[in-house]
Amino acid sequence: MTLKLLQPPVDPAFYPMTYPAFRHLLELQPTPKLLHEPASSPIQPVAVGAWAGPKPVGLMLAGLPLVEGEPPELLSVYVVPEARGQGLGRELAKAAERVAQTAGFPALAATWTQGASGTAWWEHQLGVLGWEEPERRTLSVFFTAEEALRVPWLDRFRVREGCEIVPFVEVTQEELAALQHSQEQSPWIAPDLLPWRYLAGGFEERTSVALRSPEGIVGWVINHRVTKEWLRFTCSYIRKDWGRRARILPLFSVSFHRMVEAGFTRATFVAPVHHPTMVRFVAKHIAPWVSVTRWTLGSCKKFAHQDQACGRTAGEEGLCQERG
Ligand SMILES: CC(C)(COP(=O)(O)OP(=O)(O)OC[C@H]1O[C@@H](n2cnc3c(N)ncnc32)[C@H](O)[C@@H]1OP(=O)(O)O)[C@@H](O)C(=O)NCCC(=O)NCCS
Repeated sequence: MTLKLLQPPVDPAFYPMTYPAFRHLLELQPTPKLLHEPASSPIQPVAVGAWAGPKPVGLMLAGLPLVEGEPPELLSVYVVPEARGQGLGRELAKAAERVAQTAGFPALAATWTQGASGTAWWEHQLGVLGWEEPERRTLSVFFTAEEALRVPWLDRFRVREGCEIVPFVEVTQEELAALQHSQEQSPWIAPDLLPWRYLAGGFEERTSVALRSPEGIVGWVINHRVTKEWLRFTCSYIRKDWGRRARILPLFSVSFHRMVEAGFTRATFVAPVHHPTMVRFVAKHIAPWVSVTRWTLGSCKKFAHQDQACGRTAGEEGLCQERG
């Protein structure tokens, strides 16, 4: 077996060796880690190929950050079935460590989904290769249109008096400007939940909604289309003083109905652990009624003599994610 750093153009035989969401990375040019994901950071992809004679038999894909403070990330490892069980997968994981260390980073990170195929293998490697103890990163739910309509709180909570739920496309430029102004005056929205971050690249207009109050826009559920059938609930928030006593549920009720009307048959909602309210919301109001609930986990390998923390890596995509 030979392992080599890939250079563009990459042999098409390597393309099926990573997740569809990462295949654009095999152009090996600077790019957002995930296309159509506005909050996705730009990375420089790096790939190592494995050959048995002339035949490509394995691939490691990693991303080096182009944004200060982000860690490099191991994104996927794949070995063709006939070459498995000979240590090649581990060699590819080690190659990722060498790539990150040679590029001068203090650590390499990875995220993966609990229970996905490949997870048992990867969690075994963590111990062997000296990675940190895994930590929970996000709680994800995957649900069907039928499940969305089965949640017991659907349509049970009324919108507060004086407020209305409107399609997000009807939020005016003035309302957005006022929201931005109030955030500048006294920040109240977490940076990763700022609605305008999720609008620029286009959002799912039929299902995204906002809560209009006499004080302006105070809540939103902004979604993105993953495929024709699959909707992602990307960014939802309600101002704290408006959010008590389940006041975001009417927004989700409307959005769930709109999801079904728009023909989406499945959906994803991902709550990062650094937003505990959101995790509680998912655990209490969605998870009990849907078929798939999963934690994503994260870990990192710190390199010798460099003990900087290896920050969080966001998103549901990552090492050992289900192939879709
Ligand atoms: C997972 C995968 C990369 C493993 O490749 P591989 O070349 O067969 O793996 P290795 O031979 O390097 O595995 C070596 C070690 O892992 C262990 N291992 C292999 N499969 C395992 C499993 N399912 N659970 C736990 N340990 C496992 C082996 O026992 C061996 O450990 P040891 O040397 O300590 O005894 C390969 O099966 C694959 O490509 N699967 C599909 C894609 C995937 O799931 N990728 C991983 C996440 S991105």
